[in-house]
Amino acid sequence: MIIGVLSEVLEGEKRVALVPAHVPLLAKQKLDVIVERGAGTRAGYPDAEYEKVGATLVSRDEVYAKADVLVTVRGTALVESNGGAELSRLTDKHHVIAIFDPLARPKIAQQAASHGSTLYSMDLIPRITRAQSMDVLSSMANLSGYKAVLLAANHAPRIFPMMTTAAGTLTASKVLVLGAGVAGLQAIATAKRLGAAVDGYDIRPETREQIQSVGGKFVDLGLDTADSSDKGGYAKAQSAEFIAKQQEALAQFVRAADIVITTAQVPGRKAPVLITAAMQKGMRPGSVVVDLAAETGGNCELTKPGEIADVDGVTMIGPSNLVSSLAFHASQLYSRNVVNFLLHLTTKEGALADKAEDEIVKETTIAKGGSVTHPRVTQALGAS
Ligand code: NAI
Repeated sequence: MIIGVLSEVLEGEKRVALVPAHVPLLAKQKLDVIVERGAGTRAGYPDAEYEKVGATLVSRDEVYAKADVLVTVRGTALVESNGGAELSRLTDKHHVIAIFDPLARPKIAQQAASHGSTLYSMDLIPRITRAQSMDVLSSMANLSGYKAVLLAANHAPRIFPMMTTAAGTLTASKVLVLGAGVAGLQAIATAKRLGAAVDGYDIRPETREQIQSVGGKFVDLGLDTADSSDKGGYAKAQSAEFIAKQQEALAQFVRAADIVITTAQVPGRKAPVLITAAMQKGMRPGSVVVDLAAETGGNCELTKPGEIADVDGVTMIGPSNLVSSLAFHASQLYSRNVVNFLLHLTTKEGALADKAEDEIVKETTIAKGGSVTHPRVTQALGAS
């Protein structure tokens, strides 16, 4: 079988779906690799490095014509970019591995499915132990949490660590991280490493120990969190009444912080608003807010996705595609997730394994034979 690496067509997307170091892992499983010329350049992986490990460089047309499996980062861009030209190149012989964001954007997934390809959405890899090495959400969230702190530090008019100098002592910045999943915990750890005093909060009480283990202080709002998560351990959407109480209790912590990083998400839902416009007005000028949930509705009433705004002296950052700014390492992790998935999907002889009933494959396959086959995506289509 031939694995074809497409370059990204979404503007500003610098990652590449497969890095040279992982080509030999596929070769061992008798999978040949062809790479669109220039695919890795923006991520720091020049064509020559792919050639050195045995991949063949080809044109984009040749990738579509020769590959059985197409790998890319932004599956949605195959539908949205180049006026539909990408979509018309997909056929029923293709298996496509990418991020399709199908729960939030089911119609895009449906369009991508319309040409008969089998689509696997890496963002639906189940959060089970044996699939951890394929979990792109964790890989990317980890890097986003790290970069959010650097972004905040870069925009703050203050330094993070306490510093004693001949001209006086500077106090450490106070960082508050709301939402302590993968991104939030990495943000806490990173802010701590930079010397800040870090508070962390999450609706799930079990995060107390996790926050403490990376050097943060757990913020206990004293709310009833008995119904905070589902069977799988994920946060559940809360009632408007709970969210109002949460905002009220959080206000004093937000006011006291120099930097706030918000990461709260509920899978498949709009992100909860944790910081209202009124709460933000209480923040000191010079404070910085980085809203990592900006692309899914935002944890702050006033953030705008993709923008950096000054709101009464508070810098509000709603980053979009933060991981692309770390394209070298983001590609390395994404590529490893994809390769592990590919090795799971194929036999030692390099053919597709019959794994239709396997949980990882089942949960990740969103379309086959021209239509959406995934129950949650079908449900999302109905709702939209
Ligand atoms: P996420 O990105 O979906 O959400 C981020 C955080 O926001 C979560 O910790 C959530 O509890 C929190 N949150 C949601 N609503 C909130 C609210 N109203 N107020 C405050 N916080 C709120 O989460 P992520 O990082 O994708 O995963 C978190 C969960 O997934 C955890 O249970 C974690 O242990 C689990 N996980 C399991 C993995 C595995 O087994 N392979 C891999 C990664 C995560």
